[in-house]
Amino acid sequence: MTFTEEINRRRTFAIIAHPDAGKTTLTEKLLLFGGAIQSAGAVKSNKIKKATTSDFMEIEKQRGISVSTSVMAFDYKNYKVNILDTPGHEDFAEDTYRTLSAVDSVIMVIDCVKGVEPQTRKLLEVCRMRNTPVIVFINKLDREGQNAFDLLDEIEKELKIKVRPLTWPIGIGKSFKGVYNLTEKSLNLFQGDSKTTVEDTLTISDINDKQIDKRIGESFAEQLRADVDLIDGVYDTLDRQKYLDGHISPVFFGSAVNNFGIKELLDCFVEIAPPPIDRETDEGIVKPSDPKFSGFIFKIHANLDPKHRDRIAFLRICSGTFERNKYYHHVRDDKELRFSNPTAFMAQQKSVIDEAFPGDVIGLYDAGNFKIGDTLTEGKNFHFKGIPSFSPELFRYVTNLDPMKTKQLQKGLEQLTDEGVAQLFTKKADGRKVVGTVGALQFEVIQHRLKSEYNASASFDQLNLYKALWISSDDKKSLDDFMLDRSSHVAYDKENKPVFLAESAWLLQMAQEKFPKVKFHLKSEF
Ligand code: G4P
Repeated sequence: MTFTEEINRRRTFAIIAHPDAGKTTLTEKLLLFGGAIQSAGAVKSNKIKKATTSDFMEIEKQRGISVSTSVMAFDYKNYKVNILDTPGHEDFAEDTYRTLSAVDSVIMVIDCVKGVEPQTRKLLEVCRMRNTPVIVFINKLDREGQNAFDLLDEIEKELKIKVRPLTWPIGIGKSFKGVYNLTEKSLNLFQGDSKTTVEDTLTISDINDKQIDKRIGESFAEQLRADVDLIDGVYDTLDRQKYLDGHISPVFFGSAVNNFGIKELLDCFVEIAPPPIDRETDEGIVKPSDPKFSGFIFKIHANLDPKHRDRIAFLRICSGTFERNKYYHHVRDDKELRFSNPTAFMAQQKSVIDEAFPGDVIGLYDAGNFKIGDTLTEGKNFHFKGIPSFSPELFRYVTNLDPMKTKQLQKGLEQLTDEGVAQLFTKKADGRKVVGTVGALQFEVIQHRLKSEYNASASFDQLNLYKALWISSDDKKSLDDFMLDRSSHVAYDKENKPVFLAESAWLLQMAQEKFPKVKFHLKSEF
């Protein structure tokens, strides 16, 4: 296969959803359809969403499992599909945002009973920031959900995206009979009441074909005809380019747990989803077809065994061919590194690979060289953009409980925050350390890992902050004045970028009014 063919057959994406919508089930069904796993239940345990904040065993289990499910690759038809896993627990949302920097498109799962939920909204905002193409899968049609048109309206209004259904449900809940494929004009129907197997596929050339009435009954047939009429009247036909630009989302209906509507989704996905896309760097655009290798680290995973400090850094390949044992340039550290055991993840099997192509994600054993966002190249000096930190939502002061272990604490905090478990800020005025996270669970994880991996004890003390905002200004004096005026509320992030610790929305507004030349950013990249 040529290099270009290797690139064009790759589909690297993530499935995103509000917890419980069916992300794990859908992932598993895609792997089943792709022949990557033989039985259901294999991916199931990858979740701690029901864990309480002190459920360390579950957290540890999640850490262990999520290495093997971080990337699930399989071949389907002529395509190589790479599914990047995102954590089920919303306290790990930041992890999800970063994973989204490494994909080329997403499939968003929505529960037809619950419709658009808070996490759906947040995740879609991140996709919109990057114009990531989104396919929507409306799940759980075997439950008494909302009317399909109402759901589409809700998605359009709430998520501010345009949609185009490509399949359509026949009935819902108890009366769910199957789905109509609007493109292929075929019906996939359930067998009996079990709703577990597809009875057969009926292909028709005309929606008025009386065979439909025979199979699903007159009233459902009439309803389907009316719905299809309305769909054609209301929604434009799918323009692939608009989908690729992130302006319109194709929609599929189905039931993941019952294998329903999945094949339609997968078949269409591999056809229309983008192959590896161009990536922005501080030195211009990098194309996947550039012969020189480049890639970036978007996730770092600690070794489960605390006696071994090595970690796995996940690298997304953006251009060229990655080769085992070849020296590559670590841009931030300005040093050359080579990797003797780069790992690929086919389904749930890990294996050492000799080469990998754009779109692939590989695991690199790391003894502490990498931070999230690091770029590796074949010699050039540039950094990939688009892997920002977002303002945390919860903040706490770190208090060292064991002065004999100050160094260990420092090292532990540095390394854990390199992994992206949380963000670390140092206050300008007194040097106090502040840890910021998206969820309360993180503090428990950090405290636990500091003790078990670094033998350091720390407590996390309440700090009521509204947001941490990165600050900049075209006018250096304005920024200096601001930092002096608000010095007790200024801190530095790990890159030494100044951050304003705003205690409330009102205080932020006051600061903005008083210092109009200072810009406040909710993410570290601006
Ligand atoms: P998540 O990863 O998005 O959090 O969701 P997950 O796949 O774990 O699914 C959440 C629950 O929804 C699971 O039930 C799952 O079986 C169920 N589910 C998924 N797809 C469908 C569907 O099409 N129809 C119906 N009715 N349910 C569906 P659970 O009770 O939490 O777990 P389990 O005991 O079934 O494993």
